[in-house]
Amino acid sequence: MEAYPTGYDLSSLVGFPMKILVIGGGGREHALVWKLRQSPRVSQVFCLPGNGGICDDASCVPGDPKNIEALVAAAHQVEADITVVGPELPLSLGVVDEFTRRGLKIFGPTQAAAQLESSKSFAKEFMQRHQIPTAHYAVCVNEDELRKSLSLFSAPVVVKADGLAAGKGVVIAATKEEAATAGADMLSGKLLGAPCERVVLEEFLEGEEVSFLVVSDGERVAPLVAAQDHKRVGDGDTGTNTGGMGAYSTDTLIDAAMVEWLLHHIARPVIAGMKEEGVEYRGVLYCGLMMTARGPMVLEFNCRLGDPETQAVLMRLESGLLEAIEESIEGRISDNVFQWSADASCCVVVASGGYPGSFLAGKKISGLDRAAQLENVKVFHAGTTRRDGGIYSSGGRVLGVTARAARLEDAIAKAYEAVGLIQFEDMHYRKDIGARALRSSL
Ligand code: AMP
Ligand code: GLY
Repeated sequence: MEAYPTGYDLSSLVGFPMKILVIGGGGREHALVWKLRQSPRVSQVFCLPGNGGICDDASCVPGDPKNIEALVAAAHQVEADITVVGPELPLSLGVVDEFTRRGLKIFGPTQAAAQLESSKSFAKEFMQRHQIPTAHYAVCVNEDELRKSLSLFSAPVVVKADGLAAGKGVVIAATKEEAATAGADMLSGKLLGAPCERVVLEEFLEGEEVSFLVVSDGERVAPLVAAQDHKRVGDGDTGTNTGGMGAYSTDTLIDAAMVEWLLHHIARPVIAGMKEEGVEYRGVLYCGLMMTARGPMVLEFNCRLGDPETQAVLMRLESGLLEAIEESIEGRISDNVFQWSADASCCVVVASGGYPGSFLAGKKISGLDRAAQLENVKVFHAGTTRRDGGIYSSGGRVLGVTARAARLEDAIAKAYEAVGLIQFEDMHYRKDIGARALRSSL
């Protein structure tokens, strides 16, 4: 006997137990899983492949996020009502296109839309076509062009490899000679291991960096609260770039008038511009901004949530995330889909010895239970695995220790209190996440 009449959209029934599949296995995906499972409408959350901590909050499904066929098979196997994609790679490989073709619900942009992240030259040319504020630039395909274009820039010059490079494809060159070498090494493959077809030269911008993210339904957008990432490995923004060593989020980062400005001049024109060019953009649009003396400028777009910004941002989300995801997929996003806490939040990334270079893994992590007992603290796992009842490090970024409090200084103190309880050999973390915001009362 059928429980419901056929043809009825079961997922629209309030209280209908939904199954969600999250793709990815980092700190961002742990935060997504943690938030989604709080929904009374969600009966089960699966995560492919997940990690040592995600397995506490979701059923982990082994698999490779780059293998689109395997993702389709997993969604069928767990009977996922909605699939949520964490990382950019499956999006740029067309996971959304494939799921949609097969009638499976999935949250994120299509392959064509994801070009805003996967091709820096596409993003720069798109911004120029649609008058979206960004640094002056030149696209070069060989060393000759590189030399000619460099004559139009003054040092320092930013050199970017076209294509996904996990944060490693950007060099801030102090001199033009250094820029020429970096660009040539990107084209030849010497710098990144594989040659890139195009190199983007950019004017160097100065200011505070802000991660401003929106969820789009192809037409309208709903903003998330802003966050600031800390990309360099060392205190005081020194050392090499990483995937992100920590983030904080507070309402003082950008005010309501600035949010309106960013929606009007950046987020909405991007979505409208993509549509005008025949590409509907649904999912998360991450605008990486530099707040310069000339106003906010776009450094980059990402087609997914940030890591570790998501850990900090979702700690402040009081309404459901599932509803925003559904509204994006169904093309009906509403202005008030997100309700935010006025609290501040802070995420401190704890990394393996050696990260962001080659790092040591397989270290036993202690103190996680004690840290978990602290109020308003959540330890999100990134590179961890579970073995013989213990948790071991398995990646460069290992944990995202996240706290929330009414005042930013208290959120920071709480996060570091929790970090202080956690121990593994050769672990390292920045001691100054959010500190600049306190000094400059950003
Ligand atoms: P991207 O992957 O394009 O966001 O670049 C990575 C990081 O490099 C950014 O988060 C900035 O810290 C820095 N960066 C990128 N573009 C510029 C620029 N035009 N001026 C100054 N810093 C930049
Ligand atoms: N936190 C930077 C990124 O997710 O790209």
